[in-house]
Amino acid sequence: MSTAEILFLNNKAMEELGVTDMQAVINDVERVYVLKHQGDIIAPGKCVMRWGKTVEDENVMGRINAMPGYIGGEYDMAGIKWIGSGPMNFKKGLPRASVTIILNDPDTKLPVCIADGTAVSTMRTGASGGVAVRLLAKSDASVMTICGAGAQAPTQLEAALIARPSINTLYVYDIKMENAERFCESTMKKYPHIKAISTSDIEKATRESDIIDCVTLASEPFIKGEWLKKGAFVMNMADFEVDYDCVKKADKLVVDYWDSIKHRMISTVALMWKEGLVKDEDIHAELGEILSGDKPARENDDEIIYFNAVGAGISDIAVTTRCYKNAQKTGKGIKLPYWE
Ligand SMILES: NC(=O)c1ccc[n+]([C@@H]2O[C@H](COP(=O)([O-])OP(=O)(O)OC[C@H]3O[C@@H](n4cnc5c(N)ncnc54)[C@H](O)[C@@H]3O)[C@@H](O)[C@H]2O)c1
Repeated sequence: MSTAEILFLNNKAMEELGVTDMQAVINDVERVYVLKHQGDIIAPGKCVMRWGKTVEDENVMGRINAMPGYIGGEYDMAGIKWIGSGPMNFKKGLPRASVTIILNDPDTKLPVCIADGTAVSTMRTGASGGVAVRLLAKSDASVMTICGAGAQAPTQLEAALIARPSINTLYVYDIKMENAERFCESTMKKYPHIKAISTSDIEKATRESDIIDCVTLASEPFIKGEWLKKGAFVMNMADFEVDYDCVKKADKLVVDYWDSIKHRMISTVALMWKEGLVKDEDIHAELGEILSGDKPARENDDEIIYFNAVGAGISDIAVTTRCYKNAQKTGKGIKLPYWE
């Protein structure tokens, strides 16, 4: 029998291989949206393993999600993202989310790489937000609000700034004010041209913002549609943070993957669909349709646009594949004998 090897890439190796190169990750994510639109992917639904019986239980006891997939095109790689969420980890000084990615050769189906995917996950979620901002936010957007100053917040901002360098004011809202303050401090150090303001007045922040980006763990909405100004772009990147009026008031509803959003059934637009308040035909586009030129992006400065992203393991597989291919060129990583 032949031998087989697995390449092990820890967080440090992934960093050296370009996982934190935001522009490269944006390119990966855009390609994934287009390949999905062209049907050159396989993406069975996300499998959610929850602890407890209710969303409230899950928010304390946690979950582990499995997201398998195959991505074609220049990537031509299969794999799975295995993501643990331990909401109480902070008590042990550990991050809430941990991500492991396994890549499998699409020909032999053998595993070829095990990688730490923690940065992959935050980078690709930031990049998804950045792609949406490029296509859907006002061209001169200058005021942004980020709700939820956790792990996702820095990459949401980084990618939004690539898409809209005109952003000069950032409101940060978090139920833990100290998280908002810490994020504002690090933002102003990293981007001295940005005025970052931690706030508990989410109404004022929303009323002033061109972009409202939600990455919290909230299961009760705290952003009201009546606060949205003309031209606002609302990013529902997590669960149930914006009320039904935000969706009703929007001129366009755009999503990353509509079937997955309905399957996950936790975001505002999904809950409205379940209640019959939103129909399939009310969804203006998935991002892949806009990137392929089949549907228009933002068409004027007055439109209010709502965007919901559930994310997909295929994006993580694409980013990890790029790093894996870089590792093969540079010899980085640790080779593990799988079958000897
Ligand atoms: N769409 C995607 O592709 C995608 C990908 C990854 C994560 N997410 C989602 O993004 C969210 C944030 O993830 P994270 O890794 O940054 O989590 P995190 O735990 O690191 O940070 C969450 C932050 O939100 C704050 N928060 C919690 N409840 C709040 C509320 N009701 N109001 C205001 N702030 C509140 C917390 O204090 C914390 O600072 C999660 O819901 C996660 O599932 C989405």
